[in-house]
Amino acid sequence: MRESSHLSSVTSLAGAGLRLAVSRAAETPTSRGTPPAASARVLLYVARTPDDALVEHLKSRGWSVLVARSAHEIGRLIKPATTCAGIVDMASFAVRELPALETSLRQQQVGWIALANPERLADPAVRRLIRHYCFDYVKIPVASATIDYLVGHAYGMINLCDADLPPDPTAVSDAEMVGTCEAMQQLFRTIRKVANTDASVFISGESGTGKELTALAIHERSPRRKAPFVPINCGAIPHHLLQSELFGYERGAFTGAHQRKIGRVEAANGGTLFLDEIGDLPMESQASLLRFLQEGKIERLGGHESIPVDVRIISATHVDLEGAMRDGRFRQDLFHRLCVLRVDEPPLRARGKDIELLAHHILGKFMTDSARKIRGFAPSAIEAMYNYHWPGNVRELINRVRRAIVMAESKLISAEDLDLAHFSQPQTMSLAQAREAAEKRAIEVALLRHRHRLNEAATDLGISRVTLYRLMGTHGLRDTSNDDRAAVKSDEKPEGKNVSPDDHDTRE
Ligand SMILES: Nc1ncnc2c1ncn2[C@@H]1O[C@H](COP(=O)(O)OP(=O)(O)OP(=O)(O)O)[C@@H](O)[C@H]1O
Ligand SMILES: [Mg+2]
Repeated sequence: MRESSHLSSVTSLAGAGLRLAVSRAAETPTSRGTPPAASARVLLYVARTPDDALVEHLKSRGWSVLVARSAHEIGRLIKPATTCAGIVDMASFAVRELPALETSLRQQQVGWIALANPERLADPAVRRLIRHYCFDYVKIPVASATIDYLVGHAYGMINLCDADLPPDPTAVSDAEMVGTCEAMQQLFRTIRKVANTDASVFISGESGTGKELTALAIHERSPRRKAPFVPINCGAIPHHLLQSELFGYERGAFTGAHQRKIGRVEAANGGTLFLDEIGDLPMESQASLLRFLQEGKIERLGGHESIPVDVRIISATHVDLEGAMRDGRFRQDLFHRLCVLRVDEPPLRARGKDIELLAHHILGKFMTDSARKIRGFAPSAIEAMYNYHWPGNVRELINRVRRAIVMAESKLISAEDLDLAHFSQPQTMSLAQAREAAEKRAIEVALLRHRHRLNEAATDLGISRVTLYRLMGTHGLRDTSNDDRAAVKSDEKPEGKNVSPDDHDTRE
């Protein structure tokens, strides 16, 4: 884990807002951020039938060449921490092999260039792969000097990107809290303050607001950060197993206890124990936990030894614990022990512009799920995100954006893609747009009424057949049936030619 100084707010990738970076995968001096020395330049050459002469040439130019004959082999050769240049010979693979190849082409640490022949370049699937994943392509046969230039360029570009980007896209976002609004800034300040003490922290917040992320942030910021952070979801473990999960057991403690098991409390020794969904803790475990908090010692099931354990307790719940105490389902004395310091997670709907910031952050994180290059969110999507109530908070936002990445058919994610169409107002319309829509509708109705007989429809509309034909093209109605094409073929003058003055729309 990184040092706690990395918790400080930093400008986000998008340049908008602040992030609280809480934990990132450890970086070694040889990790992706540092381009390997020139002598160690790696080149991945992917071809069903590799060209030995090309391999020899590349080696003579100082490349350390790895050859893969299939997508499966690429997977084995690509090392997550190493950047490399890549040559993919599209001509050598069958079209049906392309989907498997795509997964490998997506690897961000490889700077790809493609080799292709005219036949492959005519294939839309190949063209798409090249457009999306390659820095460049060349038609084969190709001069060695061109290859030298292109792979050097791709390698340079990938290392250039690398210096700006975080080491690993998954490592970044899993551990970062994004937030710029006042409520989140307040939360970040609280995290910093409570991290410096050893007192128990109670985190309250709706489902999916980031309670676990906050608990981890506190741990990462605390003097205990080098020791374990052990989470336990009290609601997910069957009641009869909870005691042994929390406190462990000795060999022979019960039937099936073949060997000693260390419980979660003991496993967190020196670190932090995160008791999630504490409201679901059964009474029996509440009593044991209280005893542990008072004495600082545990006893494994079936054991007679009291073992001192030093842990910092953070607990969280999304249920109304005050209500549970009133109903006698949760012990007040335990609550007071757990809730020395209290942190409240703001719901997503109360985070203003952060909704948009988070949505872009999530889009950036999960973009690799899709082959398409989605650019962002359409105005309708942004509007819907602000109007929606977000009962599932950030977790729900993540799910909706991931779904939208898969569903989106254009470069901008729409409200429909987020399944939030009801939450965006219908588009406002200019007068010109309203006229255009009315014109299209009138033409559609006339065509429908006259079963696509252009003469009659045009007479109804008070325009000539040629004008009607032209307007059908303008409004994308020309291909709706074969009738109109047939009609034009048989007796219509070609569009735009020999149009008499009365061919003009009466509106003009
Ligand atoms: N501020 C944030 N910035 C980025 N990601 C966040 C933020 N808050 C939450 N997340 C992400 O949202 C998801 C839900 O967060 P987390 O599990 O911490 O919430 P929770 O409150 O514990 O949810 P639940 O009540 O369902 O257990 C996680 O994937 C987390 O990484
Ligand atoms: Mg949780």
